[in-house]
Amino acid sequence: MQAFSLFFNVLLIVLAIGYIDAFTRNDFPEDFLFGSATSAYQWEGAVDEDGRTSSVWDTFCHSCYIDAFTRNDFPEDFLFGSATSAYQWEGAVDEDGRTSSVWDTFCHSSNYLGNGDVACDGYHKYKEDVKLMAEMGLEAFRFSISWTRLIPNGRGPINPKGLLFYKNLIKALRTHGIEPHVTLYHYDLPQTFEDEYGGWINRKIIEDFTAFADVCFREFGDDVKLWTTINEANIFAISSYSEGFAPPGHCSPNSFFNCSTGNSSTEPYLAGHNMLLAHASASKLYKLKYKNKQRGTIGFSIYAFGLTPYSYSKEDEVGTERAKDFLFGWMLKPLVFGDYPDKMKRILGSRLPIFSEEESGLVKGSSDFLGIIHYMTVYVKNSSPTPSLLPSRQNFFTDMGAVTIFMGNSTFFESYNNPPIYILENGKPMKHGSTLQDTPRIEYIQAYIGAMLNAIKNGSDTRGYFVWSMIDVYELLSGYIYSYGMYDVNFSDPGLKRSPKLSASWYTGFLNGTVDVGPRAITRLQSNISGSSSF
Ligand SMILES: *[C@@H]1O[C@H](CO)[C@@H](O)[C@H](O)[C@H]1NC(C)=O
Ligand SMILES: *[C@@H]1O[C@H](CO)[C@@H](O)[C@H](O)[C@H]1NC(C)=O
Ligand SMILES: *[C@@H]1O[C@H](CO)[C@@H](O)[C@H](O)[C@H]1NC(C)=O
Ligand SMILES: *[C@@H]1O[C@H](CO)[C@@H](O)[C@H](O)[C@H]1NC(C)=O
Ligand SMILES: *[C@@H]1O[C@H](CO)[C@@H](O)[C@H](O)[C@H]1NC(C)=O
Ligand SMILES: *[C@@H]1O[C@H](CO)[C@@H](O)[C@H](O)[C@H]1NC(C)=O
Ligand SMILES: *[C@@H]1O[C@H](CO)[C@@H](O)[C@H](O)[C@H]1NC(C)=O
Repeated sequence: MQAFSLFFNVLLIVLAIGYIDAFTRNDFPEDFLFGSATSAYQWEGAVDEDGRTSSVWDTFCHSCYIDAFTRNDFPEDFLFGSATSAYQWEGAVDEDGRTSSVWDTFCHSSNYLGNGDVACDGYHKYKEDVKLMAEMGLEAFRFSISWTRLIPNGRGPINPKGLLFYKNLIKALRTHGIEPHVTLYHYDLPQTFEDEYGGWINRKIIEDFTAFADVCFREFGDDVKLWTTINEANIFAISSYSEGFAPPGHCSPNSFFNCSTGNSSTEPYLAGHNMLLAHASASKLYKLKYKNKQRGTIGFSIYAFGLTPYSYSKEDEVGTERAKDFLFGWMLKPLVFGDYPDKMKRILGSRLPIFSEEESGLVKGSSDFLGIIHYMTVYVKNSSPTPSLLPSRQNFFTDMGAVTIFMGNSTFFESYNNPPIYILENGKPMKHGSTLQDTPRIEYIQAYIGAMLNAIKNGSDTRGYFVWSMIDVYELLSGYIYSYGMYDVNFSDPGLKRSPKLSASWYTGFLNGTVDVGPRAITRLQSNISGSSSF
């Protein structure tokens, strides 16, 4: 969804706290040297000045992977957009009949990062924001529907005011020629289902989710052609049911988070299983009841990072393959081939739910496209799976048996039969309110778009790209401290004033064809950017 580049920061801090004793400079020998480093080519610049000639490094960098490009190098029906989600953008949590989701509850029980009570007040300011999108030339907008705004009891009667809000929003987008991309589920389960049966860890969610999807298809489907059922399902299952730092905040007792309930060794797999089944059920319903008439497509989304072995050692290579199976294959193998990866089955045994033959058939092929949430590349170091050694700390990552280290470089995301892909989120966090001149964000985005174009030229069926986020929003892992928006929001201003950042005008220029990205700029970026990627 967003602040998951912070996901690994949190994780690493947590690991570091766990394993290292306190120390100071004085614990090191006096003649030990602490310094920092550069190298000539990486620091000096001025490559053509005062008599310097080319080195092999100059040559290497200039034989760049990415050519200059403009919007027109992409297929005409490719969609460039940007994104938000309901709880992070709408605010108005108590208004017009909306009830609490698990995200409301989660924020209010762990207060340190604030909450989405007001957020950007998109509920009241949607017209203004759609106008900004139109001025930016956005071709598409991705948002999510708040389940408890549309159906306050989770199931049963529709809330007319909630219905009207989403109809108006969709109409405003259509009027400005902006294609809506709707996410049905973005971390905001009706609290009532969490209380009634435990939410995603109970199979009852499948029926309730399908009924909710049915209402959305019926009410909005004439104007919405792009549906994502569940947002970044893999990271949702891990952060909400293994690590406990996303709503509803389940985990086994550990020293970092005090979850009120949970079991990190079983629940992530159970929740993931039910997500796949709920998605497949909604997808089946769409195909049976709506697709002929509405002609839309429906997909599932996962959070992806490039995974690269930390070293050339066999162990790190093996660890990387296992990490790919756990992080991506977990969801992609069932969607494409109908079952979990063998490696996961072997390591997890009875903790991994089993698909019946019928379920396997239902899940296989249920996603018309793959939604990718992508921010970065990580290195992988092997550590043998220890599923039973440390029962009190057993969680998704000990099962996976690999340590992921957050740092950048581009790698290929393993594709599964080259599915149609939408990059549903990509962007760069910066300290909120620090500057409107967000040049590093522009550099990040244009390098990513360039890498994506290369992948398309090389056969990737990538069909759209959404910058996270259209506007500064409430972030799951960083509250209002770090933000991703192309528009700044002054959250201390009662009117929540929006101001364009430089990235907004860069995107405007890119989309209207007046900005083209030159190869030199890109080469420079490729050499120092983290997280650009091709698929
Ligand atoms: C969890 O709760 C226990 C007991 O109340 C407390 O000692 C501990 O510090 C808490 N841990 C965290 C990370 O809040
Ligand atoms: C988690 O579930 C497993 C399997 O049911 C069980 O063996 C284990 O004791 C549970 N752990 C906790 C912390 O409840
Ligand atoms: C970064 O990726 C490139 C291309 O995949 C590769 O040649 C290079 O060795 C990588 N660099 C690091 C530091 O891993
Ligand atoms: C292009 O695709 C081929 C096969 O799909 C792959 O082997 C190759 O690495 C790709 N090259 C680039 C530059 O993406
Ligand atoms: C944000 O709004 C507050 C209240 O209106 C104002 O005092 C402050 O100067 C604004 N901040 C910026 C950066 O414009
Ligand atoms: C294109 O976008 C730029 C902003 O980057 C703007 O100044 C210019 O007026 C736009 N041109 C057209 C034709 O819309
Ligand atoms: C890349 O390096 C240039 C200067 O060499 C710097 O201005 C820019 O901010 C860097 N980009 C990123 C994304 O770090």
